[in-house]
Amino acid sequence: MDLIELAKRVAEIVKSSDYVVAFTGAGVSAESGVPTFRGRGGLWKRFKPEELATPEAFRRNPKLVWEWYKWRMEIIYNAKPNPAHIVLAKMEKKGLLKALITQNVDGLHQRACSKNVVELHGNIWRVKCTSCDYKGKLDKPPNVVPPKCPNCDSLLRPDVVWFGEPLPKSAWEKAVVEASIANVMIVVGTSGVVMPAGMLPWITKKKGGKVIEVNIEESAITPIADIFVKSRAGEFFSLLGKELKIM
Ligand code: APR
Ligand code: ZN
Repeated sequence: MDLIELAKRVAEIVKSSDYVVAFTGAGVSAESGVPTFRGRGGLWKRFKPEELATPEAFRRNPKLVWEWYKWRMEIIYNAKPNPAHIVLAKMEKKGLLKALITQNVDGLHQRACSKNVVELHGNIWRVKCTSCDYKGKLDKPPNVVPPKCPNCDSLLRPDVVWFGEPLPKSAWEKAVVEASIANVMIVVGTSGVVMPAGMLPWITKKKGGKVIEVNIEESAITPIADIFVKSRAGEFFSLLGKELKIM
C-alpha cells in the first residue's frame, strides 16, 4: 500500500474505533528540528547518555549537564510543532484521540494544543531543587548555568527522568490504564528500546488492541505492529489529517 492508501486505511480504523491513544517518541519532533537520541544523527551518537542523563553525571559535573540541557532548550525554544503534533492535537479536539502518552520532554505536543498529554519522562522546561521541595517552570533557557534555587540557593536540576530514575508514578499509572483500555494505539517515532515506556504498545496488544506504528525505520515495536507505516511522521500525519478532514 502506498502512503495515501495507508492514510485512508488508518483513517478508517481511527473513525471506527471507540478509544484511540497515541504513544510518541523523539521521532515525532524530528521534523521540528529537535534531535533524536538514537539512529541517524541521534544525540547518543555524539554524547554518552551516562555522561549527561544520569544522577551520577549531574553530581559529577552539574555545569556540563546543564550546558547540554541549555543547548537542547535553545533548539526546542526555536522549534515549532510539525504536522504530526498538530494533527494529533486536532484528532483529540475532534474526539478521535483520547490520550497522548509521550516520552518527549520538549512540550511540543502541548504547544500544538494537545490537552490530555501524559509526560512519562518529565518536561525540559520544568526545574526542581536538589535540596528543598521547590519546583519551577522556565519560559526560556537560563542565562546562568547551573541555576540556583530561589528558596535555598542550592542547585536546580531539570525536572526530567534520567537513566536509572523512576518514572513519575501518576504518569506511569495513567499511561498503563490508557494502554490497557485502548482499542488502537498509534505509536509514532520511538525506537521502543527504553523501558518501561517501551512496554506500553505490548500492553495494548495483549489486551486485544491494534498497534499502528509510524516510523522511518523498523523499531522494537514493529514486530507487534498490525500496520507499519514507513514514513516521516509529519508527512504521514499531513495525509491522515486530510483523510480525517481535520487539516
Ligand atoms: N518520523 C518518524 N520517526 C522518526 C523520524 C521521523 N521524522 N525521525 C526519526 N524517527 C524514529 C527513529 O527511526 C527512531 O526509531 O524515531 C525514533 C527515535 O528513537 P530514539 O532516538 O531512541 O527516541 P525515543 O524512542 O523517544 O527514546 C526514548 O530514550 O534517551 C531516552 O529519555 C530519552 O525519551 C527518550 C527515550
Ligand atoms: Zn531549594
